[in-house]
Amino acid sequence: MITGSRHEATDRYAVMGHPVGHSRSPWIHAAFGRQYGIAISYEALDVPPEMFEAEVSAFLAAGGKGFNCTIPLKEAAFRRADVLTERALRAGAVNTMQSLADGALLGDNTDGHGLRADLEINLGISLEQARILILGAGGAARGIVAPLLERGPAALHIANRTAARALDLARVFDDLGPVTGGGMDAMDGEYDLILNATAASLSQALPPLGDGLLSREGVCYDLAYAATPTPFVIWGKEQGARISCDGLGMLVEQAALAFELWFRVLPTTQPVIEALRLSLAR
Ligand code: ATR
Repeated sequence: MITGSRHEATDRYAVMGHPVGHSRSPWIHAAFGRQYGIAISYEALDVPPEMFEAEVSAFLAAGGKGFNCTIPLKEAAFRRADVLTERALRAGAVNTMQSLADGALLGDNTDGHGLRADLEINLGISLEQARILILGAGGAARGIVAPLLERGPAALHIANRTAARALDLARVFDDLGPVTGGGMDAMDGEYDLILNATAASLSQALPPLGDGLLSREGVCYDLAYAATPTPFVIWGKEQGARISCDGLGMLVEQAALAFELWFRVLPTTQPVIEALRLSLAR
C-alpha cells in the first residue's frame, strides 16, 4: 500500500466511451495498481453521448473518484468539468476526470503529455528544433499541439484534408510557437517527425502522402494503434523512417498520467507497454 494514500476499497474508477468494449484501459490501470499494491476498481462503461450527464452523476454517487473519457465523449467531458487544468483548456477536450474533495469535478487532458513522454522518454526523440508535421486537424490533433510547441520545434505544420480546419487550429496555438496550417494537397517541405492524427488508420486508410516529406533519419508516429502495423506505419517504413511506430506507448503514457493525478504516484510504463504489445499480438 502507498503510505498516506487516501484510496478506499469502495473507490471506483472507469473509462467511459461509446463503444468502449475494446478499451485496454482497465487492463492498463490494473497493471499500474499492482505496482503499488492497489486493487483498483476500474471498469469500462459504455456511455452513449446523450446519457453522459446522467451516467457521470450516477457514477459519482456510487463512489466514483475518477474516470477517463474516450471517443466520442472528450468534448462533453470538457463541458461537464467544473474546473479545468491549463492543458485541458488548451486541448479543448478532457480525457481524465477527478472528483475533488469539495465535490467539484476536475477535468484534465493527459493525451498530449502522454504522447510527448512516449516520444522523448521511450523513443529518445528530441523535439527541440525539430520540423514537425501533424496530419489531421480534429480532436486528436488539437490535443497534441501545445505540448509539442512547448518544446521549441523549428516548425510545426498542420495539414488536413479540409484545409480550413488546419488553418483554424494553427490560429488557436500561434501564440505558443511557429505553427502553420494548410491542406493535405499543398504539403511540401521536409519533416523530422510526421504524426498521423487523422482518423484514417481506424478504417485502414492512408492520408494522401507524397514522397520526400520525411527527412533522412526522420520518425513517423501514428496516434492510432493496432495489433498489426497501420497503413501509416507501413508508409513510414517504406519512406525509410528511423522509427515508424503506432500510438500504443502514448496510450499507456496518458493512462500513467491519469493514474498519477488520482494516486499521486507515476507508474513505471515500459513493462506495461511491452506486455500490452504482446497481448495485442495474441
Ligand atoms: P478525432 O477526434 O479522432 O481527431 P475528428 O475530430 O472527427 O476525430 O477528426 C478526424 C480527422 O481525421 C480530421 O482531421 C479528418 O479530416 P477532415 O477534417 O478533412 O474531415 C481526418 N480524416 C478522417 N479520415 C481521413 C482520411 N481517410 N484521409 C485523411 N484524413 C482523414
